[in-house]
Amino acid sequence: MTASPPPGPAMAWALDTAGLPAETAARPMPGGHGGQVWLLQGPDPATAVVLKLAAPASAGGDERLIRREAVILEALAPLAMPVPEVLATDASGSQAGTPALLMKRAPGELLSGQDAVREAIPAMAEVLILCQRRTHNLVAGRRWTPWQPASGFRVPSWSTREALWNRAIRVVQGFQAPRCDAFIHRDPHPANMLFENGAVSAVLDWPHAGRGPAGFDGARMAMNLCCLLGMDAATAFRGAFETALGHCQDPLLEVYAACEFLPDPQLEATAGALGIELSRNQARGRLENFLADAMRRMTSRRLS
Ligand SMILES: Nc1ncnc2c1ncn2[C@@H]1O[C@H](COP(=O)(O)OP(=O)(O)OP(=O)(O)O)[C@@H](O)[C@H]1O
Ligand SMILES: [Mg+2]
Repeated sequence: MTASPPPGPAMAWALDTAGLPAETAARPMPGGHGGQVWLLQGPDPATAVVLKLAAPASAGGDERLIRREAVILEALAPLAMPVPEVLATDASGSQAGTPALLMKRAPGELLSGQDAVREAIPAMAEVLILCQRRTHNLVAGRRWTPWQPASGFRVPSWSTREALWNRAIRVVQGFQAPRCDAFIHRDPHPANMLFENGAVSAVLDWPHAGRGPAGFDGARMAMNLCCLLGMDAATAFRGAFETALGHCQDPLLEVYAACEFLPDPQLEATAGALGIELSRNQARGRLENFLADAMRRMTSRRLS
């Protein structure tokens, strides 16, 4: 989470663009990691807006993500999905001093605590299926590839389950990569969703979206839930997702999701925003359980 206020020029651009008074307060929003996000709220809460800036390149950020997210949100706007409405973008940063995205405040709140996240599993499955269906023909954003090329997947240095990782790496390197036959969010996790009355009121954080394998969002979500809560949460999510989808997913998607992902400070930030205690070792162990489970289902499918 960003602790400091937005830089002066970005704040001035946002207030001017949204027509908010100078005394508007900027509150850092929890749940972010790569970006920097503030709620700008004046005396009237109904006019609150959200300002998102890219973390500067000097801090390991990628300033192109603001433009990408703006383009995706504009493309999603006509599709009747629970996504934030864009008010303005300064993709080059010529006015805001840094690339900036100004959105309406979406309704709802982040989940808080393990029980709340568990209870929301059916709603999260439902909204990801809704997104997959509504965006099926959408061509926008970047084409999916794993975060690192599959040829570069390696056994994590901390792992004691070398044989498991080596089998998984052989699988992703040996099978053809999944086809990019859908539009995917690419980074679904519970801190990228807001909830109201038990339903998902907004799916946030779209800079990495684009054409990708149908169901990859389900695989990533299952993996994130496994790391945050444990294998039972991943299994419950997969059950709800596949029931809504009407068929079983290829476990290869989960093997990809696990191999491209290593628990890191971002996952800890996500856990923190959701009020979940999570140690790095816990997340690592759960990731390996998730991978082992996906590999078991992979094996039984291939042999049957
Ligand atoms: N339009 C919005 N309305 C209400 N809250 C929002 C909105 N956009 C973002 N937020 C809040 O800000 C948090 C961080 O936003 P977001 O997920 O977009 O950024 P991020 O994770 O830092 O971004 P990225 O992964 O692109 O670097 C969210 O978890 C949510 O609490
Ligand atoms: Mg986020």
